[in-house]
Amino acid sequence: MRMRNYSAMGVAILVCVALQGQVRIVAAQDKLLDFLGEVNDAEHPRGYRDYVEMQCWECHGYQGNGGTGPVIANGPMPYEAFANYVRRPANTMPAYSPNVLSEGQLRNIYEYLHALPPSPDAADIPLLSGE
Ligand code: HEC
Repeated sequence: MRMRNYSAMGVAILVCVALQGQVRIVAAQDKLLDFLGEVNDAEHPRGYRDYVEMQCWECHGYQGNGGTGPVIANGPMPYEAFANYVRRPANTMPAYSPNVLSEGQLRNIYEYLHALPPSPDAADIPLLSGE
């Protein structure tokens, strides 16, 4: 009988410790997300959020590194050409009218894409260079 009481208390203590750990992990996650949000906001105001909200990432990846759509991070395209493209794409990309995506949002997205580091050249990646 005695033994059973002790083990019940042991389990209760273990549960408390585990819950505390969980609370700490959740708090750390929140802090990390806040930090990432601040970094993105500081470097390119709202650009990252607009990019995500407009779902560009679905085809171009979160960092503009391409997916079903081409790489659009840090390209040489000037803003006017970029804006024209997004308003009237050439092929399968959906068009974004100013009703859906404002001029301001488009500029934010452009700034975001241009603040990203350029993708490395295939020749600089040992696995892809064929060496
Ligand atoms: C449903 C998939 C899809 C979505 C969503 C999408 N794109 Fe595209 N995008 C493409 C494809 C595919 C191309 C290649 C040309 C074509 O099919 O129009 C492209 C081409 C482009 C190009 C031209 C790249 C070049 O070098 O010629 C730009 C710039 C671009 N997209 C920006 C955006 C932005 C900004 C958004 C969000 C506002 C967006 N795209 C959303 C699929 C997409």
